[in-house]
Amino acid sequence: RHPINIAIDGPAGAGKSTVARLVANALQYIYVDTGAMYRAVTAVALERGIPPDDEEAVGRLAENLDVVLLPGDEGQRVLADGTDVTSRIRTIEVNRNVSRVATYEAVRTKMAEAQRRMAKAKGVVMDGRDIGTHVLPDAELKVFLTATPRERALRRFKEMGDQANITLKQLERDIAERDRMDQEREIAPLLRAPDAKFIDSTGRTIEQIVDEIVEWGRAAS
Ligand code: C5P
Repeated sequence: RHPINIAIDGPAGAGKSTVARLVANALQYIYVDTGAMYRAVTAVALERGIPPDDEEAVGRLAENLDVVLLPGDEGQRVLADGTDVTSRIRTIEVNRNVSRVATYEAVRTKMAEAQRRMAKAKGVVMDGRDIGTHVLPDAELKVFLTATPRERALRRFKEMGDQANITLKQLERDIAERDRMDQEREIAPLLRAPDAKFIDSTGRTIEQIVDEIVEWGRAAS
């Protein structure tokens, strides 16, 4: 057996991060959450008062910001210039601005380079929007994971817990808007790679999906 790379792409709230983390555990691979990197740039921009609409300023920030993902027992940590920003990247404010930030070429180029470096030695499960199509087109296993918009909003709603000063309906709208921007952007939009295996997770358990992907991963390694 030789280690491979596994790309898991799909829209917001499809369960990618949970599934990717469990697949990585089962195969003893490293889990890389690429969304966390776009979120870190967005969170730092907001904290520094850089308007998310200002492509040039946000691009400059991304080029100079050192975003590092640290795999850990209690989940992945995200560092921006050495500061742990993990707890600050999942706010409603970041949710609402991240897809705009992720349209910028300078931001995407910087993130994709870092992601390719992390996958160089193989043995990585990477989740995102453009991993199978753009970041790792040679990944040995590609999965496109989705679920109905309703189910995806419900999952995110439960995840947000007491931070939920947002209604399910509003969350559904936010997710739909994020998906639209991710699909319609010019650079590396969200789409299913022709060679990606398709999974609709609606009504299926996480365990079933993880088992399926782990089996494919073993067969390909
Ligand atoms: O996966 P997550 O929901 O945390 O991603 C947040 C946002 O980051 C996405 O909505 C998308 O705009 C952006 N993203 C991206 N490319 C990736 C991963 C995330 O554009 N590979």
